[in-house]
Amino acid sequence: LRLAVLVSGRGTNLKAIIDAVEVGALQAQVVGVFSDRPDPYAFEHARERNIPTVFVDPKKYPSREEYDTALARQVMELKPGCIALAGFMRVLTPVFLNAFPGRVLNIHPSLLPSFPGLEAQRQALEYGVRYSGCTVHFVDPGVDTGPIIIQSVVPVYQDDTPETLADRILAKEHLTYPAALQLFAEGRLRLEGRRVIIDWENR
Ligand code: GRF
Repeated sequence: LRLAVLVSGRGTNLKAIIDAVEVGALQAQVVGVFSDRPDPYAFEHARERNIPTVFVDPKKYPSREEYDTALARQVMELKPGCIALAGFMRVLTPVFLNAFPGRVLNIHPSLLPSFPGLEAQRQALEYGVRYSGCTVHFVDPGVDTGPIIIQSVVPVYQDDTPETLADRILAKEHLTYPAALQLFAEGRLRLEGRRVIIDWENR
């Protein structure tokens, strides 16, 4: 599986993906890392493994659609079979998504459909839920509204802060995202309309 990863920030999920490839847990090749920021920390992880990094500057494009056209064109050059958003902070329009139907995945730090958008961990704490977690989903044009692939659960403790909860969820993210991508790599994961089909072995 040729995998393109889109990032905006520190890139711990990107690193988890790269490490999973390295140890053979994810049968894929990260062919490029793209960002809407000039030099996110995530690019360090890519450079360490000689993975090409590409900054696509939002300031150069007057509309979201024009940005997405430019981004899609550059991603397309690498012929990826899958595009993984990993802390990519822009909402993609159909201009981008229609270029890669059923092939764009995202990870979000809550049990969707609860707490979409920014500061999901803070939202969960403020609501007072006893469990939270992370969700890997296909991307649609909404904010964290796409069809759900897999979720992992963590407990919420009474003395949690957004940071302690985020750390607990993040540890799960680093296992869950490579696992979802491996399902895709094995051809066991696909989208039919809004329905996610997974071939689970031994079930
Ligand atoms: C993660 O919490 C992810 O769920 C969310 O953004 C954060 C990215 O973290 N979409 P990192 O850049 O992978 O460290």
